[in-house]
Amino acid sequence: MIGPGLFELPSTHPDGMDHCTEQLDWCMPVHPLLASRFSPMWFDPSWTVSEDDVELLLDAARWAPSAGNSQPWAYFVARRGEPDHDRLVKHLARSSARWAPSASLLIVTMAHRYIEDTDWAYSDFADYDLGQSVAHLTLQAHAMNLACRQFRAFNLETLTTDLNPGPGWHIISMIAIGHPAEDRPDSRERRSTTELRTAPWDA
Ligand SMILES: Cc1cc2nc3c(=O)[nH]c(=O)nc-3n(C[C@H](O)[C@H](O)[C@H](O)COP(=O)(O)O)c2cc1C
Repeated sequence: MIGPGLFELPSTHPDGMDHCTEQLDWCMPVHPLLASRFSPMWFDPSWTVSEDDVELLLDAARWAPSAGNSQPWAYFVARRGEPDHDRLVKHLARSSARWAPSASLLIVTMAHRYIEDTDWAYSDFADYDLGQSVAHLTLQAHAMNLACRQFRAFNLETLTTDLNPGPGWHIISMIAIGHPAEDRPDSRERRSTTELRTAPWDA
């Protein structure tokens, strides 16, 4: 069991037999932690996360794989009620300003794209690796019965001027994290696995 009762997987098929060797599709469904994740837009405005919660989320983020173990990510973290939270809210776009401030936590994600004071790539995979790190954080949050909505609806220019990331560092996205105040939608759209396997290359 991974989460508090939510993510238990049966160890045998309902017929009581263990089909793991012959029926991989039954034995290996998409893990419930992945299948039940969603990005809420509405968060419980009274929910708070502790400093320990924040540490746990960042601990998950730091265990992501990265090219050459370069770990080209940084997170500016602000809990609702803290001065840094007000600082971030000022830069939200009109759309995200409607919902993001009610989340318990706002995070600004940054990637180490260039070696300081040069135009040489620190890593060709900086943004890619940051995305993996955020995915780790997102699933850790879900396992803690929290939810994340990543977003780009903020003023990148003014936020960059305000936070003034170090040379070579770039702001990429923001994440709102909190206790969802809405249910997961019944239907969510995704391209099929067949489409993923037939898409854009010469046959
Ligand atoms: C890099 C990135 C940027 C996003 N930007 C926004 C945004 O600006 N506003 C918004 O409402 N949602 C934003 N989203 C959330 C996506 O719309 C959402 O993840 C997608 O519709 C799939 O829904 P799901 O996460 O519930 O599966 C963003 C997600 C990612 C990963």
